[in-house]
Formats: sequence, C-alpha cells, structure tokens
Amino acid sequence: MLNKTQPNWWRRAVAYQVYPKSFQDTTGSGTGDLQGIIRRLDYLAELGIDVIWLSPVFASPQVDNGYDISDYRAIDPRFGTMEDMDELIAKAKERGIGIVMDLVVNHCSDEHEWFQKACQDPDGRYGRFFYIEDWDGEHLPCNWRSAFGGSVWEPLPGHPDKIYLHTFHKKQPDLNWENPELREEIYKMVNWWLDKGLAGFRIDAIINIKKVLPYRDYPADRSDGMCSISTMNYHAKGIGQFLGEMADRCFTPHHAFTAGEVFYVNDEDLPEFIGDNGYFSSMFDFNETVCNASDKGWYDQKPITPEQYKACCFESQKKVAGFDGFLSNIIENHDEPRGVSRYIPKGECTVRGKKMLGGLNFLLRGLPFIYQGQELGMENLAVNSIDEVDDISARDEYQVALNAGLTEQQAMDAVNMFSRDNARTPFQWDTTENAGFTTGKPWLHVNPNYKEINLEAQRNDPDSVYQFYRTLIQLRKKSELEDAIIYGETVPYRVEQKNLMAYLRKGEKNTVLVMGNFQPEAQTVPLPGAVKQVLLNNCDTAAIADGAVTLEGYQLLVLWME
Ligand code: GLC
Repeated sequence: MLNKTQPNWWRRAVAYQVYPKSFQDTTGSGTGDLQGIIRRLDYLAELGIDVIWLSPVFASPQVDNGYDISDYRAIDPRFGTMEDMDELIAKAKERGIGIVMDLVVNHCSDEHEWFQKACQDPDGRYGRFFYIEDWDGEHLPCNWRSAFGGSVWEPLPGHPDKIYLHTFHKKQPDLNWENPELREEIYKMVNWWLDKGLAGFRIDAIINIKKVLPYRDYPADRSDGMCSISTMNYHAKGIGQFLGEMADRCFTPHHAFTAGEVFYVNDEDLPEFIGDNGYFSSMFDFNETVCNASDKGWYDQKPITPEQYKACCFESQKKVAGFDGFLSNIIENHDEPRGVSRYIPKGECTVRGKKMLGGLNFLLRGLPFIYQGQELGMENLAVNSIDEVDDISARDEYQVALNAGLTEQQAMDAVNMFSRDNARTPFQWDTTENAGFTTGKPWLHVNPNYKEINLEAQRNDPDSVYQFYRTLIQLRKKSELEDAIIYGETVPYRVEQKNLMAYLRKGEKNTVLVMGNFQPEAQTVPLPGAVKQVLLNNCDTAAIADGAVTLEGYQLLVLWME
C-alpha cells in the first residue's frame, strides 16, 4: 500500500480512470453511479491499482457528460449523493486506493449560479467571473473557433448588446482567471474537496485558462474564416502565474497528486509544469493521440502507423528526460478512441497484439493510467448513422466533413474512427443483458462484442488480457526492479529497425529491456547483452539464441538484463 503522505508517493502508483456514466449502474437508470463504483472496488483492488481518476460526477446538465458543472460542491443526483461520494472516498481508502476527481475550472455550465447571476447583472461581481464584451450585433472581438465548432462568442442571454466567450460548447462559458476574486472562489472549492480526503485532481483543459488579451484574430485555417482555439493557446503567455498560485494555495499544502490535461506547451516550459517544483505532479502525454492531426478536422487525420507510434512515445520520453519529469502515459481515455483499435493496424488486432501494446505503453517511464475496459481489451464500436452518436465533438466533426464535400458514408467513417463514444460504451462485466452494466436501458449502446470480451470470461482465463494487465501491474510493483521500472531512464533501442519498438529502462542497479514486434511477421533482434530472466512474455516461448531473439508477430518480451 502506498503511503500517500510521502512526497512523490504517486510515482510508484498505477492509476485507473473510471468514466462513471458507463461503469456500473445499480439503480436501473441506464447510467452508472457512485454505488456502482463502490460495488466494484474489490475488483479494482484485485487488479492492483492505487489511484482512481473519476471523470466528473458533479451537478451538471450533462451537455458534455459532466464537463459542464452547475455546482462544484454537489453530486449530480444521476450519480448519487454526497454521502455516496464520502463513502467511496472512505471505502477506497480502506483498500489503499486514492480518489482523484476531475477539476474542470476553465469553464462551468451556463446553469451555474455564477453565470445565472452574470446574466442578471453583467457589470456586477459575477459578470466579472466571465469574459463578457459589448456587441454591436455584427463584429466579434476575435475569430477564434470553439473546440466543439462555431465561434467562441455567443450572445449573452437577455442582453442582445453583449456576448460571452466559450472555448468549448456554448453551454460551457469560460471563467475569467484574470479576476482574482474568481480565482479565490476556485481555490476555496479545491481545498474544500482536498480536505474531504481526495488524493488529488486530474485537471481538465487547463491550458485554456490563459487567453490572449486584448483579443486578436489569427489567420483562418478553414473556410469558415476562423482559427482553431489551439492557435490562441499557442500564443497565450503567462499562464504560470495562475498555475503556480493554484499549486501554492491548494495542491502543495495537501501533498495532492495532480495530472494536467495539457495540450500545447513549449518544450522549454515543461520543467515549470512538471519539474520538481512544477505546477503539477504530472501531465498526460498526448503526443500519440495528436499524431497526423489536421487543422481541417478528423476526416483529414490519417491513421497512425507503428513507426509513428514509436517515434511519438520516444519523443515525449526524451523531452522530460533532462529534468526527470514524469509523464502520465495512456493508450486511451474518455476523449480518445480505444487504443487497441487505433494503434494496432486494421485487421491485426488480436489478444496478443492488445497485450503487446499494453506492455509497451505501460513500461515507459512515467505514471501508467489504465482507462476502464482497457484491461479487457475493449474495442471501438462503429455505428451506422450520426443519429446514433452522442458525443458533441463527433457530431460537429461529422458536419465539418460534410461541409468539406465528403459523402455521408465518408463522414461516418471519420466519426467512427475518432468518436469519443468509442471509449464511452458501457463496461463489459459479463454475458448477461447489457453486459451486466445495467438492468435498464443503457444511456449509450453496449458494444455487441461483450459476449466475447467481458471480465467474467477473462477473470478465470490465465491467458486473458485482464490477467496480463494484472501481471504487468505486479511487475511494476516488484521492489527489486524499482530503480529500473519506475525511476530508470528510457533508452530507445534499435530505433531504425522497422516495426520494432524496443527500449531499455536503465536503473542504478538493474536494466530491463522491453521489446514489441509491431507486425504479424516474425523478426530477429540482436540483444545488447546477456539475459538474466524473462520477466514477461505474451507468447508461450522466447526464441533467444546466439545473442539474439526472434520475436513472433506481435510478441512482447520484457527481459531483465545482466
Ligand atoms: C477535456 C475533457 C473533455 C471535455 C473538455 C471540455 O478535454 O477531457 O471530455 O469535453 O475538456 O471540458
């Protein structure tokens, strides 16, 4: 059990993301709930994780599945009550598991009391909590496009002569971090939660809190005349003042673990973010997820190849090596398609390949985050029509693709590849109706492959993806290898060998070699030295002879080197 009062305790942790809406329903409402998570805590303890990141369960109109919060200090009745939340924190703690909640403070919901009051009195205290500008009905302050489509500007309800800014959906007005009174309210709320016993926060969309002011246009990147909000993020300077203040006021005094959702940070600023006295403990590595991304939209984003995957992972590892930064490594989350459907080339996704991908990612230097269902090898689910899609981002991208002249089928193909619904389908517990997720009507379709891919089947199968993840977690916790597997440097190995992803984890005493053959055909790899022990293998045999190893297609080998 990790002692969470020690500095940097989280470095030895394995984290698990629960998307509450899709985890376990106990009421028959079709939506997962807090009691469902409590019911499954023994399962998570059996898996071996130390930290649960809970996607938002706060009061919310659910326009963006809870990332639109109407009361930061209340639990949405769909998920349960504050007593349920306290019970979850306490029961998780009994099992040595810390709860990390989602801190969504770039924006709130337009149904939050602050915004309601801002609409009543735009020039008053709460008006200053938001970005509200005068409007002549024609000219906008700038041409930034919101992340979910359309301008970031929207008329302020009840005030035809005013507009407010939203970098996401119009029902998610941005909070004005330039205003110290707003920041004070946020810090009070954060500390209130930390005092309740949270282990920390995953920090949502945080890079958006700093705006380029005064507003200015950037060159348009689509025919709508607007520019991506990421262009603004790139030019915004001075976010450190806010982040440093929040760390000093909230996180540091509580020894809280924090993982920032940080897209777009300059390499030279990285140590300020996740160095020794950084704003956050860690931040997610999204290098793989944004590979081949296009300003035009999802329809123009090419699938990532194994060679690109390898290059992206190593590039990130290198960026943080110089200052000992600890990235949070993922193959998927609630915003991304399932990693096994994305990173393993089409038609090649097998149980063996799923294990290989899991192992390659999990053993990189940093903090491994497992997203619910990843440990079962859950896959994407393609749907036939846009009417079956819940994700607001996917619905926007469908329209973007149609506007660019694609056919409905082509637009659906793009949506199916990247839709956030892919990872949000309910957890597949067993073979009963709705995969054991709910006795009611699930809020989002269950992947019909649950008959084959489910926990019940995998729990008793020593060769399952699930048992493989358990072994991986145990390997990470082997104390005699800690210097290599947790703290060791990542040294890429034979980078030029195609479809081979291999790296050494070099510790003070031990060296571990991780190798994955990212193709169906076998390939031979010379070894850098003698092998002490095979630590992990997703195949029955390891063909090691004469200083080389012949890896079978999609074989993963983890070797303890002399
Ligand atoms: C983050 C969340 C995503 C949400 C967005 C707006 O990227 O992960 O789910 O839609 O922020 O809050």
